[in-house]
Amino acid sequence: MLNTKDMAPVMVSAPKLPQRIFLIGFMGSGKTTVGRHLSDLINYDFIDMDSKIETDEAMAIRDIFIRRGEHHFRNQESRLLDQLAEQTNIVVSCGGGIIHDDINVERLKDNGPAVFLDGSAKLLFERVKNDGNRPFAFLDLGDEAQRFAKFADLYEKRRCHYDEASQLVIKVDGKSPSQIASEILNALTL
Ligand code: S3P
Repeated sequence: MLNTKDMAPVMVSAPKLPQRIFLIGFMGSGKTTVGRHLSDLINYDFIDMDSKIETDEAMAIRDIFIRRGEHHFRNQESRLLDQLAEQTNIVVSCGGGIIHDDINVERLKDNGPAVFLDGSAKLLFERVKNDGNRPFAFLDLGDEAQRFAKFADLYEKRRCHYDEASQLVIKVDGKSPSQIASEILNALTL
C-alpha cells in the first residue's frame, strides 16, 4: 500500500497570464471583437485604443484625421500606449497603424505580449470596405478594385512590422472570434 505522505509533493502551479495582452493587426482583423471575448474569458479589462482616443478628443477617428491630421492622431496613439504599458490586467485592441513608430514596437515588445491577428487581405477588405470611419482605405476613393489594391499593398508593407512586434501570430480566416480568443489563451498559457 502506497503511503501518500511518503510521496514527494507534486507542484501544480496555475498557468500564469501576462499582465497585458495587446492585439495588433491590420484594420478588419477582428482586434476589437476578439479582444472583448478574450477579456471576458480571463476577466481582464478591455481597452480599445481607437475608442479611447475618440472619447478623449470628442471626435470620430475620421474627423481627427481630417481636422487635426494624422500626425496628431499618431502622437495621441503613442501617448496612450505609454500609459497602457503601466496598467495591469488589460486586453488592448491597438489601432492598425500602431506599428508605424519604432518606439511603439519597442513598447509592445517590452510590455506585451502582442498578438498579431493575421487575416487575408481579401477577408479584411470585405469587412471594412463600407466603413467610412477608416481613413486609410477610404479617403481617396477610386473604384473597388483600386481600393483593394491599395489596401492589400499597405497590408503587405506593414506585415513585417506586425511580425516583428508580436510574440504570437494567429491566423484568423475561417475562425470565429471566440475560437480565436481561446486559441490565444491556450497559446499564452501553455
Ligand atoms: C488605422 C487603423 C484604425 C485607426 C486609424 C488608423 C491604420 O484602427 O487607428 O484609422 O493606420 O491602419 P483599426 O485597425 O482598428 O481599424
